[in-house]
Amino acid sequence: MSLAPDDVLPLFEETPLQCRLSQASQIEDALAQAGDCLVIGVYTQDVLSPSIRELDHRCQGLLTRLCAANELPAKVGECLMLHEPAGLGLSRLLLVGLGKPGAATLVDVRAAFTAAARRLLESRAADVSWLLSTPSALVLPPAALIDAAVQALRGAAYKFDHYRQTRETPPLARRANLLLETSIGAPEQAALERAVAIANGVDLAKDLGNTPCNICTPNFLARAAQRMAREEDLQVEVLGEQQIEKAGMHAFLAVARGSSEAPRLITLQHRGGVDGQAPIVLIGKGLTFDSGGISIKPATDMDHMKYDMGGAAAVLGAMRACAQLKLPINVVAVVPACENMPGGNALKPGEVVRSLSGQYIEIINTDAEGRLVLCDAMTYAQQWYQPAQMIDVATLTGACVIALGSVHSGLYANDEALAHALLRAGEDAGDSAWRMPLDAAYQKQIDSPVADMVNSAGRDAGSVTAACFLSRFTEVPWAHLDIAGTAWKGGREKSGTGRPVALLTQFLITQAQAQAESAASLSARAA
Ligand code: BES
Ligand code: MN
Ligand code: ZN
Repeated sequence: MSLAPDDVLPLFEETPLQCRLSQASQIEDALAQAGDCLVIGVYTQDVLSPSIRELDHRCQGLLTRLCAANELPAKVGECLMLHEPAGLGLSRLLLVGLGKPGAATLVDVRAAFTAAARRLLESRAADVSWLLSTPSALVLPPAALIDAAVQALRGAAYKFDHYRQTRETPPLARRANLLLETSIGAPEQAALERAVAIANGVDLAKDLGNTPCNICTPNFLARAAQRMAREEDLQVEVLGEQQIEKAGMHAFLAVARGSSEAPRLITLQHRGGVDGQAPIVLIGKGLTFDSGGISIKPATDMDHMKYDMGGAAAVLGAMRACAQLKLPINVVAVVPACENMPGGNALKPGEVVRSLSGQYIEIINTDAEGRLVLCDAMTYAQQWYQPAQMIDVATLTGACVIALGSVHSGLYANDEALAHALLRAGEDAGDSAWRMPLDAAYQKQIDSPVADMVNSAGRDAGSVTAACFLSRFTEVPWAHLDIAGTAWKGGREKSGTGRPVALLTQFLITQAQAQAESAASLSARAA
């Protein structure tokens, strides 16, 4: 099948579910604005909290009776949909369990909201509202609740059906009204804006991941970046095969050699900071398909390797969010994009290739290709952009999936402050990472008898040795996120997840805030 790129780039065209904020200080305000369905969080034995009690009163003790019958959602994420409850004037009321009062963590709230949003979208209500706080829930700041609700709603509303003749029947929820009991000011609106920008970045990353690999080729990623640059006001540059060769990126080229799809080196720049300020550089592994090459993978689940551009997708998604938020910092995204294929011209085990850094790499396994494209992209980024910090994001190793599953992304770093900032951003954004070791003791596993290093050290600590390999190409504060287990999921719900767009964007937001604060304190001292 060959489809023209423009036929298959509907990625920016759909209007997503719209979220807005309204104040509802009293339960009657919430009821008046409820739309087709009102969502309310309830705590175990919480019938007596003031707003729930008020609601109960209005529906003649229905909630008290449900509680007595043990039918009120008790567990985190448990849902109960009530149709036309008497006395409320609502067509539907969705109760979602938040667990024990005061005990709900942000992780619980996100899980409960995700379950509620799914239930809500199944109900096919078009216009919904969501009471975000009951008095006993105010352990979490409104900004966190807003973000949790937006990510849950947008996550549940996401669909990818460009390649079905029979599309799902419309419409899933189109509008959501997030109700706060407290007044809504600039901080709450800013929180909503941040949450929506993150959701937009996540949607883009999912779309790129889900786009089939005969369509989402290296050139397709380049065109998507160019289109985004136009729409979001970013600078873009795309290098083709000859330019990559001329630059001396032989490790990257070695991977691309076996494929008839030409490689692309994509660079996007967001210049939101002052001129000359060192940028944060994000690097995303962009393998639009990884067959393993000559060290070919088994047939089972090889289709999953279309998600091997998950790092690139996440980096592009984070750039989109960063541009939409006009963050006052400089950020550069670098994406080495290619396919890893077998063929008469393909890279072979036993070859030695010269990386852009000058270090020689002995190829043991052509399926350890991610580190080969990344090392050259990292050297290139350091030569051209002198990053203040560099973060690479890659579906790098099956070993990381074994270690961490799909819960946390693996985080490696040569800089403590950067590591902690990323861990914190992940927790706040509901897109967590877990720190992994990078001590010198692992380095000897990748020493080579004939070159500076091997590209594959076998099964022991496979995710760590991949990170060790990358560490040999860094001269600046650097972190590596291994997202092999988090960027996509298999099975019947096979899909890109959009991770770790939220982590990256949250990190950029806090970096922008930190830079603004230090600039302010500098100018205060000068005055
Ligand atoms: N893209 C894969 C890693 C991967 C595996 C991502 C499973 C998602 C799910 C990567 O290029 C790869 O093949 N890594 C090898 C490295 C080995 C040959 C040292 C692996 O993990 O087996
Ligand atoms: Mn591979
Ligand atoms: Zn790969």
